[in-house]
Amino acid sequence: MIKISPSLLAADFSKLDTCISRIEDSADMLHLDVMDGMFVPNISFGPGVISDIRKTSGLIFDVHLMITNPMRYIAEFAKAGADIITIHYESCDNQIEVLKAIRELGVKPSISIKPATPAFILEPLLEYVDMVLVMTVEPGFGGQSFIPETCESVRTLSQMIAASGRNIDIEVDGGITAGTIRAAYDAGANVFVAGSSVFKAADPAAAIAELRKVCE
Ligand code: DX5
Ligand code: ZN
Repeated sequence: MIKISPSLLAADFSKLDTCISRIEDSADMLHLDVMDGMFVPNISFGPGVISDIRKTSGLIFDVHLMITNPMRYIAEFAKAGADIITIHYESCDNQIEVLKAIRELGVKPSISIKPATPAFILEPLLEYVDMVLVMTVEPGFGGQSFIPETCESVRTLSQMIAASGRNIDIEVDGGITAGTIRAAYDAGANVFVAGSSVFKAADPAAAIAELRKVCE
């Protein structure tokens, strides 16, 4: 069963409530992109916004931290209502410590790699995570084109996870549309972030159904 995690970054920020309600019944998760203007050259939103929308949505909150030294903020994001917190491998030197701390806060830990970071680097971290996130674009902005070469990382992780015997989701993020999702699915991904292709669609729920259909 695949999971679709629409990225709120592509929603109209003046109508968050309406945008979320349009996908509430058809999405599996809500992907929340947190950017600090340091780790990535863009600034989005923080725990205050997440805790406000937590009151209106029952979706699994899939929080993607694109911030330097994430240890500083994980408690705040847990308190704001995150169900999953993804940190970037490239954002700190204490990945294991941060992943353990996320779990201690009662949140599912996840780790992400940028397109150029080799997937094998995550092998020693698999025992600490419930999900891995392969960026299929350079993190920082929505609306970019899917980088097909990143499917190699998905394939490598899929094999590494199978060999470990662990139950770990593989999420892909960036440029996921009805035209690109199948390649990532075939490579072994089972959780799909989709920003523009869902929230910029005239009918976001229909766009989600279309993404699912392509993977059937
Ligand atoms: C990019 C973000 C993505 C982005 C995806 O840094 O992590 O989640 O919002 O947007 P689309 O689907 O438009 O590429
Ligand atoms: Zn993201």
